[in-house]
Amino acid sequence: MKKIKRIGVLTSGGDAPGMNAAVRAVVRTAIANGIECIGIRRGWQGLIQSDFVPLTRESVGHLLSRGGTILYTARSEDFMTEKGRLKAVATCKMLGLDGIVAIGGDGTFRGALELSRLGIPVVGVPATIDNDVGCTNYTIGFDTACNTAIECIDKLRDTMQSHERCSVVEVMGRNAGFLALYVGIAVGATAVLVPEKELDFERDVVERMQESRLAGNTHFMIVVAEGAGSAVEISHRLEEAVGIKPRVTVLGHIQRGGAPNARDRETATRMGYYAATALAEGRYNCIIGTKEGGIVELPIEEALTMKKNLQMERYRIMETMQFGSVLTK
Ligand code: F6P
Repeated sequence: MKKIKRIGVLTSGGDAPGMNAAVRAVVRTAIANGIECIGIRRGWQGLIQSDFVPLTRESVGHLLSRGGTILYTARSEDFMTEKGRLKAVATCKMLGLDGIVAIGGDGTFRGALELSRLGIPVVGVPATIDNDVGCTNYTIGFDTACNTAIECIDKLRDTMQSHERCSVVEVMGRNAGFLALYVGIAVGATAVLVPEKELDFERDVVERMQESRLAGNTHFMIVVAEGAGSAVEISHRLEEAVGIKPRVTVLGHIQRGGAPNARDRETATRMGYYAATALAEGRYNCIIGTKEGGIVELPIEEALTMKKNLQMERYRIMETMQFGSVLTK
C-alpha cells in the first residue's frame, strides 16, 4: 500500500454549521497519522484554480464554534466539464495530494465520483442543512439549522399570538421536507407542507386551520418547505379560501449561519476523524455516513443511488399533536 503523505480538504455546495469542525478534525487526524493537510479554498472551483492554503494543527484551532466555512465554498460550473476536472487533477498532481476529503452534499459527492474516476482517491463527509443525503441518517448542520428555525418561529409565534394572526413560514430544504417536518413538530405547527406529500390545500391547510380554531386557537402557524411551494403563494391561497391575511416570513439563509450546536460539533468531529483515518489506512472513494448512532463507509457510486425517505410516521405524529383529528377520522 502506498504511504499517504499529503491530503487536501475542501468544502463545497451550500455551507452548513459544523463544516469548520469537520475541517479541523480532518486536519488534526491527518497530522496525528503523519500526513500533511492542504486546504483547498472554494470547493471544486478552488481545485481547478489551484486556490489552496496549508493547514496546521494550530491554524485549525478555535474552529469548533465557528459557523460558515473558513475554506469558503462554491458551486462550480467548471467542474461539470471534462476540461475543468482535468485541471483539478493537474492541481492534485502539482500539490502532491494523495487524496481529498470533500465536505458537502450530494452535488459535492457527484463531483467526488467524477474525480475518483480520474484516479484521485476521495472520501466524502456529508454536510448540508437539508439532511437529504441518502446514504446517511444525518448530515452535519441539520440540527443547528432546525434550532435556528425554531428560535425564529418561536419569536414569530409570540407576535402571532398577540395579534391573533396566521403566520406562513417558509424554511429551506431544497427538494426535501426533513427540515420543515422536524421544525414543524418542534414548534407545534398547525400544518406542515412538504414536497414528499402531495398537497390537498383544502384538507391539509384549510381544514387544519378550522379544526385548530374549533380547538380554541386564535393564531396559526403554517410551515412550508421551500420544495413544497412558496409561502407567498400559500398565503394568497389562504386569503382567498378563508378571508384572513396571513403574514409571510421566508427564513432563508439565516438557517445556514451561526455556531454549530453540540450535535453538529460532535458529529463533524467524528466524521472528519473517520474520513482522514480511512485515507490514512488506504480506504477511499467512499462516503462517511451515520447509521444507528455509529459510523459507516459506503462506496461513492452506491451511496449516490441510495434514497432516504421522509418518515411519514413523523407527519402523522405532527398532525396528532395538534388536534387528534387523524385519530377520530
Ligand atoms: O442545500 C442547502 C441550501 O441552503 C438549500 O436548503 C437551499 O435550497 C439552497 O442551499 C440555497 O442555495 P444558495 O445558497 O445557492 O441560494
